[in-house]
Amino acid sequence: TEIDIDAEDLDLGGYPHYMAKEIQEQPESVERIIRGRLDDRFGVARLDGLNLTPRELRGFSRVKILGCGSAYYVGQIGATMIEELARIPADAEAASEFRYRNPIIEADTLYIAVSQSGETIDTAFAVEEIKRKGGRVVGLVNVVGSTIARACDGGVYLHAGPEIAVASTKALTNMAVGFALIALSLGRVRDLSNADGQRIIDAIRALPGQIKSILDFEPEIAEHAKTVAAAKSLFFVGRVRGYPVAREGAQKFKEISYRHAEAYQTSELKHGPLALIDESLPTVAVVPSDELTGRNLAAVQQIKARGGAVLAVTHAGVDFGELDVPRIVVPKTEPELDPILLTIPLQLLAYHAALTLGYDIDKPRNLAKSVTVE
Ligand code: AGP
Repeated sequence: TEIDIDAEDLDLGGYPHYMAKEIQEQPESVERIIRGRLDDRFGVARLDGLNLTPRELRGFSRVKILGCGSAYYVGQIGATMIEELARIPADAEAASEFRYRNPIIEADTLYIAVSQSGETIDTAFAVEEIKRKGGRVVGLVNVVGSTIARACDGGVYLHAGPEIAVASTKALTNMAVGFALIALSLGRVRDLSNADGQRIIDAIRALPGQIKSILDFEPEIAEHAKTVAAAKSLFFVGRVRGYPVAREGAQKFKEISYRHAEAYQTSELKHGPLALIDESLPTVAVVPSDELTGRNLAAVQQIKARGGAVLAVTHAGVDFGELDVPRIVVPKTEPELDPILLTIPLQLLAYHAALTLGYDIDKPRNLAKSVTVE
């Protein structure tokens, strides 16, 4: 894949790995995706590149998001944001599956292709299939002028800057923020009020500072990583907004630490996987402060009762009572945007686990930065 990278981008800037550098760059890269796109007067996002009029935006009755790997998981985060803020049915699917199943393309569905490289062949083929059948597809892409960006009817560039490490971090965070902007646009031509739009805008603006405060906790997260790296296998669990966060956390862990990391919906544990819990299988549990906290805490209690260790990624004020659970505390944003921040410490957890284990962080075995061949 040819991408425009200048010498400065290739400079590690004093960091030991590109992944470390790209994790640290997130406050500025989030600044870049939101710059000039938030309109306080009307509580809306300005996304002219979508090439969609308000009437067209209103006309969609469904949203389908397509991406591969981590881009697909962030697509799930985006689908939930769109359902919550715009109240349109939305879901994400792996583009690698979609392209092979003769998908039904509907005229009133907005298709969103999401990709850092813009060159992932499965996502590019999904876009072609949608276009061939007359569907409307927009891109959420990082690399300007890439195949997917060019093929789409419009889109939102991520402006994350070049990403070198195979394990994606800053591009994924910008994808999640990009989905928040799209959800805002879809919401404000429907029933999302100006005040609610403003509430989301204010929260988006605060994200860079909040990300910075998470990054300040890197030494503590590195200590947790040493503990989890000792396990051969681990679970990542989350519920509703937290589930794609768990999936992405497990993905990052697998990619660079080569540990078996499996994500489950917290709600599904009792339907099978709980049987695997014992002293040798720790769980990373996403436990945000929201309407589901009580249920998540009950699941943590069930894991602990079976001898399983739990590391919680949580918010201040979540009361674990008597439970002996180490915690990574993440700043609270608006509930719809919580997944953006909850994902950040899981990047650092995977990074430090791989560092402890001594693996090649920027170029993990068997993986390519973008999968451009069948
Ligand atoms: C992310 O850490 C992975 N390397 C991988 O899942 C990646 O997100 C996927 O291959 C999609 O790549 P893209 O965003 O360039 O399309």
